[in-house]
Amino acid sequence: MAQADQAPAQANAGFTKRVFSGIQPSGGLTLGNYLGAIKRFVEMQEDDCDTIYCMVDLHAITTWQEPDQLIRNTREVAAGFIASGIDPAKSILFNQSQVPEHAQLGWIFTCVARMGWMNRMTQFKDKAGKNRENVSVGLFSYPTLMAADILLYHATHVPVGEDQKQHLELTRDIAAKFNNDFKTDFFPITEPVIEGAATRVMSLRDGSKKMSKSDPSDASRINMTDDADTIARKFRKAKTDADALPSEVDGLEDRPEARNLVNIYAALADMPVQSVLDEIGGRQFSEFKPMLSDLAVAKMAPIAGEMDRLMQDPGEIDRILGIGARAAREIASPILAKTYDIVGMLRSA
Ligand code: TYM
Repeated sequence: MAQADQAPAQANAGFTKRVFSGIQPSGGLTLGNYLGAIKRFVEMQEDDCDTIYCMVDLHAITTWQEPDQLIRNTREVAAGFIASGIDPAKSILFNQSQVPEHAQLGWIFTCVARMGWMNRMTQFKDKAGKNRENVSVGLFSYPTLMAADILLYHATHVPVGEDQKQHLELTRDIAAKFNNDFKTDFFPITEPVIEGAATRVMSLRDGSKKMSKSDPSDASRINMTDDADTIARKFRKAKTDADALPSEVDGLEDRPEARNLVNIYAALADMPVQSVLDEIGGRQFSEFKPMLSDLAVAKMAPIAGEMDRLMQDPGEIDRILGIGARAAREIASPILAKTYDIVGMLRSA
């Protein structure tokens, strides 16, 4: 952590890919966040990409957050990033509310996006459910702020889990409409990066539901802060069917729980799913579950330990995020200024 005194390397705009992604500090991190997002973030950092990662606290408040808890969660997500291998000397790491340009560009995009587009967002429908009249306006307009997060840095690549795909399509639509309306090519058309065996990690209690920090059952998820015993217990109790594991990927069809556990194993082991099945095909879950839990403990428990260590020194986390926010603003502020010029906002000389 000590090396984070200097501005991160991405002021080096020499890289061809600029990567942006974000995570909501609306609760603890799960294995889904790790495998679907953070693990890819680390790989892209090491892959000579220009990488910018954000705790999106402005997004988090679209649903109620206790103020003290929001601060703690923001630090904890930052600790999760760093413990997983995000190096603040290589990547910009910051929280969204420290860079006001996100909200400013978000408003412009709220005026670009069409109601019809927003009405089609399935995540809003899922989250609002029957409570539609009573959720915040922010929850509805959320994806326009997400488009702003990305385009404020002219990011070209956005690593995310499967559930964010529709939001990234909207980001492309917003960029294209802005460019078309103002006869410019100012905003790039961003590529989603949804790759690997675990782009949709499912609940351990119900293979048809996404693993989520908001699931009331703690047994449904592995938290990144879980210790070795807890990880082992949750996998031992994970729902499965009664059959042996198949030897071919096709054999996982219609077996959501089995597919989920095999995908988790493949992602943790950095192996193709078929290679995992070559090893475990024909075995019972009673044999496979301990293998999976040993692997998960070996990969995740050291990260949990490091998060715990980092959380002992919140001042250091805040310092790192302050440096990240300054570096982020250096990129964001000229892009916002140019956007204002394009839109026709008068600026005093
Ligand atoms: P959030 O905070 O819900 O999740 C953060 C990242 O983790 C991925 N993820 C999963 N991947 C696989 N399996 C799962 N069970 C699982 N659960 C979560 C998500 O796909 C995501 O990549 N709207 C975003 C945050 C955001 C953002 C952005 C992302 C705001 N602005 C700009 C990218 C770029 C969200 O709510 O993610």
